[in-house]
Amino acid sequence: MDRIIIRGGRRLAGRLTISGAKNAALALLPCTLLTDEPLTLRNLPRLADIDSFQHLLNQFGVTTTIAGSRPEDFGRVMTLSATRITSTVAPYELVRKMRASILVLGPMLARMGEARVSLPGGCAIGNRPIDLHLKALEAFGATIEMAEGYVRAIAPDAGLPGGRYTFPVVSVGATENALMAGVLAAGTCHLHNAAREPEIVDLCNLLNAMGAAIEGIGTSDLTIHGVPRLHGATYRVMADRIEAGSYACAAAITGGEVLLCGAREDDMAASVQALRDAGVHCEQQGEGLHVAADGALRPVTIATAPFPGFATDMQAQLMALLCRAEGASVLTESIFENRYMHVPELNRMGAHIETKGRVAIVHGVQQMTGADVMATDLRASMSLIVAGLAAAGETRVHRVYHLDRGYERLEEKLALIGADIERVGGD
Ligand code: UD1
Repeated sequence: MDRIIIRGGRRLAGRLTISGAKNAALALLPCTLLTDEPLTLRNLPRLADIDSFQHLLNQFGVTTTIAGSRPEDFGRVMTLSATRITSTVAPYELVRKMRASILVLGPMLARMGEARVSLPGGCAIGNRPIDLHLKALEAFGATIEMAEGYVRAIAPDAGLPGGRYTFPVVSVGATENALMAGVLAAGTCHLHNAAREPEIVDLCNLLNAMGAAIEGIGTSDLTIHGVPRLHGATYRVMADRIEAGSYACAAAITGGEVLLCGAREDDMAASVQALRDAGVHCEQQGEGLHVAADGALRPVTIATAPFPGFATDMQAQLMALLCRAEGASVLTESIFENRYMHVPELNRMGAHIETKGRVAIVHGVQQMTGADVMATDLRASMSLIVAGLAAAGETRVHRVYHLDRGYERLEEKLALIGADIERVGGD
């Protein structure tokens, strides 16, 4: 297995192109199931998760072609065509590997009147149920059955009649599934306390470009007027706000200065605010977000929350940055119960972090040191990269496949702005 080796202490500076957003792309890809016409997605990131999702869609009979992509380009253009759907079952082997597979449930139900998807089970960052996905579909008129580890959703012959659902807690995935189920409903569907992450806005914009009639986009109250059919579209995936935030932390911990081309402050205002509170200069410019730090960092108190709050997907990377702040920062993880697996690894690098339940206290240290480290999830792995960039000596990050799930050509991008980083084979 590959590992990434970083020799820390180099100041990062320069321009960096932010890729298409993984979390948006994984919600846009299943939209192909809603139409028999081709869907073309531009700016799709080259990531293992995207390949897995493509593979899942192929199993349903969706044909996929990739055009105009040279190995040196970031991003790809993919045309997906679900002219004929040959299977409505998402098997365990694929769903287990990639939780986002659950996002085929809504669109498959809407188009085919039925879908069977394996229950995803737990994952490294905690127990991640799908009860809210199912309750929303039920509220729209679906019948839900559970058997042999699979969930089966069935719509009446005339399609989903529509209905109203209020989420008891904000769920990104459940909002996405409900939206895709509702667009072809016979009646109108209402969602309250819906997630309003920028990736949800991206999904709504694509669905409307395909002929859907969604109102309230960007708010927590969504109205979906069902339409009889959707058509094809060409759509550009939004820039990845989490990738941008991660590289902002990477640059800041080295006292560096980068222009994150394509990043939009509006999509990541809470992260930008946290960086500013830590003493990092951030400013939206024409081409993207300009980030500059002078080495001195202040401690920050922050809790993760649904958008527009501070994203749980940025918690680990911000924590790595705050390891170098002058004083104690307090982080609270409100979304997931078990998302501090990076803490022992950061401590092995000389950080001083204490956790108690969902709260982490990060006592800033003057210097961290390189070590062999590994993490059990994507963002935790990125936090080790951020720490390694500022640590003295060599950091070897193992289990690189986590990073390949969510960061397009990470080491190339970081090397371009001055990091001493390389990927080596074998482990
Ligand atoms: C969550 C994050 C998202 C992040 C992603 C990957 C939030 C609100 N969501 O999205 O930003 O990109 O993880 O790290 O920050 N829940 C239920 N029942 C359900 C669905 C969810 O109880 O059916 C709970 C979850 O356990 C969690 C909360 O609701 O505590 C939010 O989960 P949800 O937004 O659905 O998770 P993801 O869509 O994976």
